[in-house]
Amino acid sequence: MCGIIGFKGTSNLNAVDVILHGLKTLEYRGYDSWGIAVLQNSPAKKPSISVLKAVGKIGLFDDLKKKKKLGTSSMGIGHTRWATHGAVTKTNAHPQLTADKSIAVVHNGIVENYQELRSWLEERGYKFSSQTDTEVIPHLFDYYLKKGLPEEEAARKTFLRLKGHYAVVILNKSSQKILAAKNGSPLVAGFNDKDLFVASDVPAFLKYTRKVIFLDDMELVVLNDGISLFDIKSGRRKRRKHDTISWSPEQAKKGNYPHFMIKEIEEQHESIRRAINQDDKKIMEIASQIKNSFGTFFVGCGSSFHAALTASYLFSMIANKHINVVLGSEFPNYISFLKKDSLIIPISQSGETADILDAVRAAKKKKSKIYSIVNVMGSSLMRMSDHTFLMNAGPEICVLSTKSYTSQLVVLTLLAYASAGRLQEGKEELLKAARHVEDYFKPEYGARLKKLASRIAKYHHIFVIGRSLNYPTALEAALKIKEVSYIHAEGFPGGELKHGSIALIEKNTPCFVFAPMDETYHEILSNAMEIKSRGGYIIGVSPKDNKIFDFHIPVPKDHFTSPILNIIPIQILAYHLAVKLGRDPDKPRNLAKSVTVR
Ligand code: F6R
Repeated sequence: MCGIIGFKGTSNLNAVDVILHGLKTLEYRGYDSWGIAVLQNSPAKKPSISVLKAVGKIGLFDDLKKKKKLGTSSMGIGHTRWATHGAVTKTNAHPQLTADKSIAVVHNGIVENYQELRSWLEERGYKFSSQTDTEVIPHLFDYYLKKGLPEEEAARKTFLRLKGHYAVVILNKSSQKILAAKNGSPLVAGFNDKDLFVASDVPAFLKYTRKVIFLDDMELVVLNDGISLFDIKSGRRKRRKHDTISWSPEQAKKGNYPHFMIKEIEEQHESIRRAINQDDKKIMEIASQIKNSFGTFFVGCGSSFHAALTASYLFSMIANKHINVVLGSEFPNYISFLKKDSLIIPISQSGETADILDAVRAAKKKKSKIYSIVNVMGSSLMRMSDHTFLMNAGPEICVLSTKSYTSQLVVLTLLAYASAGRLQEGKEELLKAARHVEDYFKPEYGARLKKLASRIAKYHHIFVIGRSLNYPTALEAALKIKEVSYIHAEGFPGGELKHGSIALIEKNTPCFVFAPMDETYHEILSNAMEIKSRGGYIIGVSPKDNKIFDFHIPVPKDHFTSPILNIIPIQILAYHLAVKLGRDPDKPRNLAKSVTVR
């Protein structure tokens, strides 16, 4: 996964500050180690590259001390790592350099043929110091430069030899240029009057500019006097108009909040409204494509899959329409069902999830139509789709999906209503639900959930049940709890627990029960009773308290919007569990926000 950044400027910005800020913003992509390389090019001295690398997250105190050693610079590159090849060590952290420190490289992705390239380079006298696949890149580039090729040509030859998915940024001491390329991993360039940027994601440099150029696969970008773009295969120069990002830098900042997670949870009172107030024409257009398709497949991973699964109930209940829901990683097994007029609706916050991109590639081979629902503008998924619907949740920095999940649910609810020819009614229902959201952020509500978090933090297992529309909510609630607290949590349809897993219920095992006042109410309470009879501690998430509940989480009375209204208290609870247990809510261990590996 990993986050990468490159900067070349003529303003008075110090590259060290720009890169450290960018890396901090990109840390959601990986945070087991990090590194930065800057060019020292003061007129008094010979140019040289200075490097700083460390294991762990970017800690401010250490950085400030170490940062001084790097001084000031006008250009450099940086990397925050989610290890794939080679253990988490300082040596394996990026940048990887040539032995003479003239070329430094940061890389996101995997060079699949690195062993072959490494042996080839070793035969030609190159010495390797790390276990990474990345280290072949600086050596290969050096090899072609030493052959006398012009720099862009040497970079092109280098990238043509790499197999796999990658985004790479190179700092070349001799030319004092930054070169970057992508194939399958995200990369975006940015510019203002004086400074040039390239990074895995826009928030890394959003503080300095909103003008961006999204790169396509097999493109090489050179930051020098301006931004030059080349096609890697043909070597031809390319021209591209820039896009202007609508996100504001403030949206990507923590402000007065201790963590992005709680900030983004609270932002839902706005993001849900933004998702509702979409372009009706676009919603109607997707609904009509669904109606006319030979099978519609909603595809997602993790939380986005849970949103898709919720959609299958919404479409059945509201529009009396069957849709298929498939996990991104399982989608290739379904392609024999696809036809030219099948419609694939990939749902993804990042638009970079490798399993989703693979699913889209497979569907494109069958010439099926792709209409994606995405949060990140310019993402790979958006660029691969025939059409895209932007859910407009704003930047989500915390690794956990919170506001993007509820925005997905809003868009899918609108689509279900639109498919039934009742879009306005759907909008009104959703706006009614949105009016309740603010109540979740009143101090007394938060205090209640914090108290519950303290009570259940000592347990090793948590169960969550829900029926019908709230079965996917149970899956999502369990995912939220486990990924951020590291307490094992499992979600079930209410009727399923008794088929085996009820054996795990012990005295006081916390069990969340989604009990909306709908057709599932009585049955889910019976399921809660089965758990209570075996000693379980019942936490009822319901508009109405009930004597079965040992703890009651009140939620508004609503029907088709209950998946939206029921998940928010659990997001808040998961946050308090993480804080109570001393976990980092924004960067849970072993995770990254964009899962760009298979
Ligand atoms: C959970 C979470 C993940 C993502 C999943 C898909 O909180 O964030 O499960 O939902 O990795 O990511 P996107 O939506 O970016 O494709």
